[in-house]
Amino acid sequence: MVKIIKNWGVRLKVDELRKVFLNFFETRNHRVIPPASLVPHGDPTLLFTTAGMVQFKPYFMGLESPPASRLTSIQRCFRTTDVEEVGDENHLTLFEMLGNFSVGDYFKSESIDWAWEFLTEVLGIDKNRLWATVYVDDDEAYDLWKKKGIPEEKILRYTAEQGNYWGPPGDSGPCGPCSELHYDFGTPVIEDSNYDPDKDHPALDTGRFLEIWNLVFMAYYQHEDGTREDLPAANIDTGAGLERLAAVLQGVRSAYETDELRSILKSAEKVTGVHYSPDSGDQSANGLRVITEHARAFAYLVADGVLPSNEGRGYVLRRLIRRAVYFGYQMGITKPFFGDVVGSAISVSSANHPELEKQREFLLRVATAEESRFQQTLSVGLELLNDVMKTHSAQKEIPGREMFILYDTHGLPPELTREVAQINNFSIDEKGFANEMDAQRERSKGEENFAENESDRQARYASLGLKSKFTGYEKIIDQSNVLILMHDEMIVQELNTGDRAEIILESTSFYPEGGGQIGDHGEIITTTGKFSVEDTQKFGDAIVHFGQMLEGNIATGNDVETRVNSEFRLGAMRNHTATHLLHSALRKELGTHVKQAGSYVGPDRLRFDYTHPEAPTHENLQSIQALVNEKVRDDIVGSTFVLPYDEAIERGAVAFFEDKYQDQVRVVEYCVTPHSHSTEAGCFSSEFCGGTHIHSTGQIGRMQIVSESSIGAGLRRIEAVTGPEAEALITNRMNTLDLLVQKFKVPIEDLPQRINSLEDQLNTERKRVEETLTTIAKIHADELVKSTTQSDSTSIIVEFLDSGSVETSRLIVDRIRSQLDNVFVCIATEVDSKPFLMTASSKTAIENGLKADVLVRFAANICGGSGGGRAEFAQAGGKELSQIQEALDSLRKECYRILSDKATSSFESS
Ligand code: ALA
Repeated sequence: MVKIIKNWGVRLKVDELRKVFLNFFETRNHRVIPPASLVPHGDPTLLFTTAGMVQFKPYFMGLESPPASRLTSIQRCFRTTDVEEVGDENHLTLFEMLGNFSVGDYFKSESIDWAWEFLTEVLGIDKNRLWATVYVDDDEAYDLWKKKGIPEEKILRYTAEQGNYWGPPGDSGPCGPCSELHYDFGTPVIEDSNYDPDKDHPALDTGRFLEIWNLVFMAYYQHEDGTREDLPAANIDTGAGLERLAAVLQGVRSAYETDELRSILKSAEKVTGVHYSPDSGDQSANGLRVITEHARAFAYLVADGVLPSNEGRGYVLRRLIRRAVYFGYQMGITKPFFGDVVGSAISVSSANHPELEKQREFLLRVATAEESRFQQTLSVGLELLNDVMKTHSAQKEIPGREMFILYDTHGLPPELTREVAQINNFSIDEKGFANEMDAQRERSKGEENFAENESDRQARYASLGLKSKFTGYEKIIDQSNVLILMHDEMIVQELNTGDRAEIILESTSFYPEGGGQIGDHGEIITTTGKFSVEDTQKFGDAIVHFGQMLEGNIATGNDVETRVNSEFRLGAMRNHTATHLLHSALRKELGTHVKQAGSYVGPDRLRFDYTHPEAPTHENLQSIQALVNEKVRDDIVGSTFVLPYDEAIERGAVAFFEDKYQDQVRVVEYCVTPHSHSTEAGCFSSEFCGGTHIHSTGQIGRMQIVSESSIGAGLRRIEAVTGPEAEALITNRMNTLDLLVQKFKVPIEDLPQRINSLEDQLNTERKRVEETLTTIAKIHADELVKSTTQSDSTSIIVEFLDSGSVETSRLIVDRIRSQLDNVFVCIATEVDSKPFLMTASSKTAIENGLKADVLVRFAANICGGSGGGRAEFAQAGGKELSQIQEALDSLRKECYRILSDKATSSFESS
């Protein structure tokens, strides 16, 4: 049994307090449980672990049985509420919670007994300084505190709003009424002449009281809709803020004056060169506290797998770093400083949280990368914000549009603009800002945000500093070990069925996309699970496998087998080698000015972009393809080796013009030795290349060019297939030819001639038809002219033509016009099952009010269509063929009406 030393006096260190606390409860039969991660495991209701009870929720809810019914822990917690308040004397985002828990074991009386004993007897806190609060109707707790000797005026009944109902953490979960103990410093923090000590109490937040322990009588479960039901048992959940309790013990009023935080704050003073003087009322004290707090929180969050990103936990982390960098900037610090303070936080906290020290190098790398990224943005953004504030100094309001531009164009986070505005007594046009954001969302709907995610990913992997060895040149199945697992942009310890994730291994046979060759697909297998690899990419030195857990689970450190899909890889290798042969053939056929401008090498096809001023001829392409296939038949064995850059160039190896210079380069060659008799000696192809290739060119089988096209000025593209795809292409084409042979009943070689003669025949027939139509149209037109009705010498011809066409309509209309001087004609017919109308009007007819365009629209309107043209000639299309007769009847009537109106008016005016 651990002996509890009574009355430690006032200088108990933070770490000593941790030990004393756990000892106290251990001797009262509590099982010490190590703290859980800040990222709650399998709990979608919570972003972070916000209290000691979070990891015990399943026990309280009766979902799992606890390892013991009495538990105790010191849980690291992270709370985002009031981030903006961090910087004052006591608000923290990251803190440790001392807690004792009963899962259906003891209840109110024991928890109150032990809290009292621990504070007053073990820690020796003056009883007279302790106040208790209880939930409004909790007489039992009230009486228990009274029995401890707390005078009635120091036992207050508080409502839920005043803080005496706790939980649930998140939208749903365990909760219950609570009772709190407050320490009375005797005086408020801010002096106020009206201050009445007799009226002050904890809920007034004057700074005189500090809540040091919360005892939750956790008996209910609250659903999302707010309804509650009893938990399987009545439980106890308590929480005491480590730094707050330490502040009381160390006789200080601020968490930042306790030993651990003070020592991190010292490093912030050192790196900024700013002296900490909390009583001076100086803004820099605030800034130093922000940097201190956020540096420590950063270290804890990243060590638990959170990484900066633009959403969720990663964004919360990013906000912390940006806030710290901003406050540093305000103190005039423009060089990187955040990493140093993180370093100090690691040193100070590692005794208690050894994982921090283990990950030191990584934490610092992430901190520095993120800090320098933001520092570049910040100074420009803040200068612009200052200008905005100057311009709007009269209104003292930052327009929403300006805030939006600062954010959207200059990367200044809105919450920072808000904070700077507040410090400078400016308000924000929040509505205007929200409108701008909405408009932006609307504009960018459907836009890919992949690029941004990619650059975030780049930065993340660069800062991870991981190295994976590629073993896939020699084997496509290999053994390795899991270095890191990423899920939802976070480092996790384990992947489970269904998780979409990224896996980084110590070594891998999976080829990461590069040199045009796409990343390998396949499976990563352990004894406990299977991961389907859908893409492989390289970031820095890390090879990242993207995909999904097919079954079981995979954990960090697991031994794995990397199984590349052999068909996929073989296809990619075949096409990669074919690309090299094609490159060489192009240079031989078109000239050595041909340079590779890009390529795509997949398992099923290849694409090669190259520089060349004009389109290669058909003969060029035939020769290029023939040359490649000749080298395929030669079955030239490839060789690869690594050698110094200059030597490779001297050797004649061709570099892709965007290749970066490297000391050592890998060269892939297909050369024939002088003794070989199959072909002339020499290297047909020698290229800088990191890709995977087949052993000898014969494995390509055949390369078939599918297309050649221009993709820009001086840039051309060839698409081709090899192996089975080339065979399939040729077979398909042969099948088509066979069909044509059957159809035309001539030998294959006579097909072109047969098709040409058929085309000639078709043209002759076409001409004959045209002539016949013209004759028929003439006859038809002449008949119409003959039978035309005259009205004041204006002929009106409105007719529907069966089996007509646009051309015959035209012929008829023209012929009628050529025969009658004063005529309005409308020929309607059916084209593609829809009415078609053509109208023409002679000069006199127009003068009489019969305008071809107006009248065609009139008729078209009736059959649901529209049209146009001039007064002399117009045409229109309708929709309803069934309406055409009605349209024509109405048109006739309209013509007569126009003519008679005209006659009446000229009679009246004469
Ligand atoms: N879960 C309680 C709190 O966080 C103890 O205050």
